[in-house]
Amino acid sequence: MTNQLKQTIKDMVVVGKGILAADESAKTAAKRLASINIESTEETRRQYRNLILTAPGMEEYICGVILFEETLHQKSDSGILFPELLEKNGIVPGIKVDDGLADLEGHPGEQYTKGIETLGKKLEEYKKSKPGFAKWRAVYSISENAPSDMLIKRNAGDLARYAKICQEHSIVPIVEPEVLIDGNHSIETCYKITEKVQKAVFDALKHECVMLEYTILKPSMVISGKQAANRANVDEVARQTIKCLKANVPAELPSINFLSGGQTSQEATAHLNRMHTLGEELPWYVSFSYGRALQDSALKAWHGKKENVEAGQNAFLKRAMLNSLATKGEYSEDMEKD
Ligand code: G3H
Repeated sequence: MTNQLKQTIKDMVVVGKGILAADESAKTAAKRLASINIESTEETRRQYRNLILTAPGMEEYICGVILFEETLHQKSDSGILFPELLEKNGIVPGIKVDDGLADLEGHPGEQYTKGIETLGKKLEEYKKSKPGFAKWRAVYSISENAPSDMLIKRNAGDLARYAKICQEHSIVPIVEPEVLIDGNHSIETCYKITEKVQKAVFDALKHECVMLEYTILKPSMVISGKQAANRANVDEVARQTIKCLKANVPAELPSINFLSGGQTSQEATAHLNRMHTLGEELPWYVSFSYGRALQDSALKAWHGKKENVEAGQNAFLKRAMLNSLATKGEYSEDMEKD
């Protein structure tokens, strides 16, 4: 069991590479496609996945891709199942395994993540597609009364149980506690909440005896709320994020791969880059697992048109390349120009 986990970590913790989150549920994919006036059908979703997952040479920057269940069974234009195509290109396929969000009773505005009861059965099924890793996302909104202690405890427990079950199936768990960016909170408030959340998650992982050396953390950055006045700058976001991680994340963890969570593509790259130029020694590999920040420009360039496929792929590859440079602190803003 540990041999397989060890190999997956080796394949996914590679300097200059990161993870692509292409695991939008059908509902979220519909939103993304609607933004370019495309109706979401199984076929248009397949075409969109095909554009991204067949981008030539993406393996230079991407070592793993998180897929949504539907994509496991879809084929590229050349007729290869997407997980097989990724593997053939030296990229580890992974799978989102949670069942999305549901309202937390007695806590208006708060949501927990569904699916823990059926997870073992699901993993047995997914194993036919040979995913090396899985992902479970828990979310925390910030408001006067949120997140509640109840939600923090429940999410931590479920993330830890999920991670344990994955490892029992020789699948590396990506543990994703996302403190949401929506709201007008300050970066200091975000720090306090993120710290509380991360502490609870690592206590729960320890309690469940999850092997941290075969676990990947996918956190949100410590950042001002999207609607806040005087939002913290790139330097401050990088400093506060690293400070929080150093205070709460054990050094045995091999890799931290951030989500972009509503930051612009450029912000997400600049923040990651700055973390690598602070001169801080980082005990873990620090990289990306972006969804929107890697795909938004591709979606716009493509616009659902066959003749734009190459332009869409180029836009995606450019973002992947810039984020790859950011993992080494080698990105600069002038590289954004064409
Ligand atoms: O669960 C969220 C995705 O895996 C990351 O997507 O980078 O657009 O926040 P995002």
